[in-house]
Amino acid sequence: MSAQLQPSSSDERLIRPLCHSDLEQLMVIEEASYDFPWTQAIFKDCLRAGYGCYAMVSGAELEAYAIVSSALDEAHLLNLCVKSSARGQGLAVLMLDHILCEVELRSVDRCFLEVRPSNKPARRLYQQMGFRVIGRRPGYYPAFDGREDAWVMVCHLTDRPRPEYEDLQ
Ligand SMILES: CC(C)(COP(=O)(O)OP(=O)(O)OC[C@H]1O[C@@H](n2cnc3c(N)ncnc32)[C@H](O)[C@@H]1OP(=O)(O)O)[C@@H](O)C(=O)NCCC(=O)NCCS
Repeated sequence: MSAQLQPSSSDERLIRPLCHSDLEQLMVIEEASYDFPWTQAIFKDCLRAGYGCYAMVSGAELEAYAIVSSALDEAHLLNLCVKSSARGQGLAVLMLDHILCEVELRSVDRCFLEVRPSNKPARRLYQQMGFRVIGRRPGYYPAFDGREDAWVMVCHLTDRPRPEYEDLQ
């Protein structure tokens, strides 16, 4: 399923399934975005495993991507990333809302994720989208000075706030 979003300057912006041919652009974004990026092999495994792998593109340009696994009534957001030059325009809200709507159609009623407490933009995004902290995984993430805990967050899909798209730039 693909979703048409607001047009960018000249090309149409849409969300569609991520594919192998996106991986070259994706890895440039991934490596620029995280201190401890996923490897290309991890993304290939996600595609092979049939996880929900989403690409937001404007023409031929990959602007954002996300990976989500789901089983029965639970989903788990594993990665969500927006290209640095495309941040601050509401694209993460659009992508996350699209994913939550899609998994809800497949009878998922809650979505979990982990986030670094130090990742303020992501924490604010998730709080705004209706995620709440429900726990902590000690030493979950690698860090330059050892390990960093993860906050575990959950969103109950039927209760979540719906973004107001007319407010997006
Ligand atoms: C986190 C990330 C996905 C946000 O993407 P984005 O497209 O810039 O986010 P949006 O424009 O949709 O902003 C949505 C909300 O996120 C929060 N947010 C985004 N950027 C922020 C920043 N620099 N500082 C504080 N809050 C921020 C705000 O709550 C914002 O809502 P507001 O504009 O009404 O204040 C992006 O910064 C990113 O890709 N970071 C690197 C990868 C990463 O950390 N992913 C999350 C892993 S858990």
